[in-house]
Amino acid sequence: MKDDLRGKHILLGVTGSIAAYKSVLILRRLVQAGAQVTVVMTSSAQQFITPLTFQVLSRRPVYTSLFDSSEEIRHLTLAEQVDMILIAPATANIIGKIAHGIADDLLTTLVTAGPAPMVMAPAMDGEMWNHPVLQRNLSILNGLGVQIIPPEEGPLASGKEATGRLASEEKILAVVFDRLGRKADLKGETVLVTAGPTQEPIDPVRYLTNRSSGKMGYALARAAQWRGARVILVSGPTHLPCPAGVERILVRTAEEMRDAVLGHWAATTLLIMAAAVADYRPRHPAGRKIKKDGSDFFLELEPTPDILAELRAQRGSRILVGFAAETEDLDRQARTKLERKGLDMIVANDVTQEGAGFDLDTNIVTLIDAHGETVALPRLSKAETAERILDRIIELKSRSKAGDHPLR
Ligand code: CTP
Repeated sequence: MKDDLRGKHILLGVTGSIAAYKSVLILRRLVQAGAQVTVVMTSSAQQFITPLTFQVLSRRPVYTSLFDSSEEIRHLTLAEQVDMILIAPATANIIGKIAHGIADDLLTTLVTAGPAPMVMAPAMDGEMWNHPVLQRNLSILNGLGVQIIPPEEGPLASGKEATGRLASEEKILAVVFDRLGRKADLKGETVLVTAGPTQEPIDPVRYLTNRSSGKMGYALARAAQWRGARVILVSGPTHLPCPAGVERILVRTAEEMRDAVLGHWAATTLLIMAAAVADYRPRHPAGRKIKKDGSDFFLELEPTPDILAELRAQRGSRILVGFAAETEDLDRQARTKLERKGLDMIVANDVTQEGAGFDLDTNIVTLIDAHGETVALPRLSKAETAERILDRIIELKSRSKAGDHPLR
């Protein structure tokens, strides 16, 4: 059933790589699974393979130009209609263009003209793959929620052995089936996600904050929305764009975050506190800029409201999920927090580990729940980590429905 793509419309973007012939195999499988697939080719892709091959297999017109006479293209309605944009193979060129919003041909224009989630499977020379410019562009795309299926190691067109081969057909299809074949398993839920740091003012120009980027919380908001939930994202200051379809409330301080969460509490069925809320704030923020006078300066701090602790008393049947970013003794600290805050689950991460923590696109987390069970996830993109966190929450929810809830 999961491999059933009936009713789904996929835009398959093909770019100029020797691996372009593999997109024919991908297309065939997508069509076999019942998807409607519209192929868009860049001009360099046509140097490797003809549009006719795709046209025959997709039984649909293949688009290659912005100046195509079709209605769908002239009004870019195609971009609004598709459920997913899959670019396979994706060259370094297309990755760079999309990461920087350059829309100078049909494919790059369609990508920026609609809300559909995007999946890219890069293929290129090993040196190009490892180049810092490409890696930075991938990181931009990752931050925007684009799922990247990394290339594999093996013999390349250049004759060298390196990482750069298009991921296997099976891997690419698994991602498509996983994302589109997934049921709307959070339909009917209102998920409140908090994300990012808070800023606690010292005076009008200074504040106390932390290194949270908000990426993990935003990935969770995006994933929950994608699974059919109504999502309210209460966000501290970040530079991240609001995910499509998510209601975002921007806040600055812990107090404002508390008020925003409480203001939406009645509608909430699942709370995910991914925000790194400041624990202390200046007791007397100055109304004017503090001037130096050469002597030592002491700042008196007071605790901020502990949002989770406050909500615990009014939880009702809601699911509460917290985060614990630790630098030592992860398991014990996280378990203590889980109990102290009365959580159903805590997402623990050791931020000293390479590939985990603040401002990165990957994370390594352990999910500890109130049953005492632990699931250690490997290093994954934050988008994938978010999916796994939601999978686990759904599992716990169905157990709790069946009467198995240790907290209540
Ligand atoms: N949290 C909260 N309100 C606060 C501080 C934290 O709701 N004022 C939430 C965080 O969003 C997170 C969880 O509580 O989901 C754990 O946050 P953390 O700062 O790690 O825990 P603390 O209880 O503040 O413990 P400590 O900072 O001493 O480790």
